[in-house]
Amino acid sequence: MVKIAPSLLAADYKKLGAEVEKVFCGGADYLHLDIMDGAFVPNISFGADVIKSLRDICGITFDTHLMINNPGRYVEKFASVGSDIITIHYESCNNQEEVLKKIRSLGKKAGISIKPNTPAFVLEPLVDFVDLILVMTVEPGFGGQKFIESMTEKIAAVRAMINAADHKIELEVDGGINNATISLASAAGADVFVAGTSIFGAADAEKAIDALRAMAMEAKNNERK
Ligand code: DX5
Ligand code: ZN
Repeated sequence: MVKIAPSLLAADYKKLGAEVEKVFCGGADYLHLDIMDGAFVPNISFGADVIKSLRDICGITFDTHLMINNPGRYVEKFASVGSDIITIHYESCNNQEEVLKKIRSLGKKAGISIKPNTPAFVLEPLVDFVDLILVMTVEPGFGGQKFIESMTEKIAAVRAMINAADHKIELEVDGGINNATISLASAAGADVFVAGTSIFGAADAEKAIDALRAMAMEAKNNERK
């Protein structure tokens, strides 16, 4: 199963509501919401109130990516405004298991993300507590960066970890995903693809989503042959 998650970070903020509708109607599976605090990453994006305002527009799954220090302080807030999946960074706290359990206790799916320099094995003790693993394919903080090709090995390692788990875990990739790089990530085992620039920067978002999905599926099918 291939899922496409447009990242709102690359949308036109003058017309956020219309941008959400555009990708929802264009067939997006998730809406990826990048929350940055200016401390964990060197950039500030938007907060929970923005998510709250967008929640009424449509029923698309809200995939909230918290790039903030000590995310446990804010998971209740992000759950209350309508996030469906809440992903924290492994590197952002020392109590990952506790925070992941808290997210699930709020009735939400819990995700853990690792930055490019963090190895996959750190996730092993946390596998039981997650519904999604997000492998960053750029340094978090900014959209429009180049996909780091060497991350495909890590994607494959996480895929093996997920296949050995006894419950469903989605494998998401984020950063520099476009028509060329999505095939590499998909062949390596990713199934949820975040894309900002390549969807919101395209003239036709629906066509961009369709093309990304087709490329990802083709890469998976080739892999199976
Ligand atoms: C980066 C964010 C990404 C970003 C992806 O820190 O987590 O979600 O928006 O943007 P593109 O697709 O432009 O690399
Ligand atoms: Zn993100």
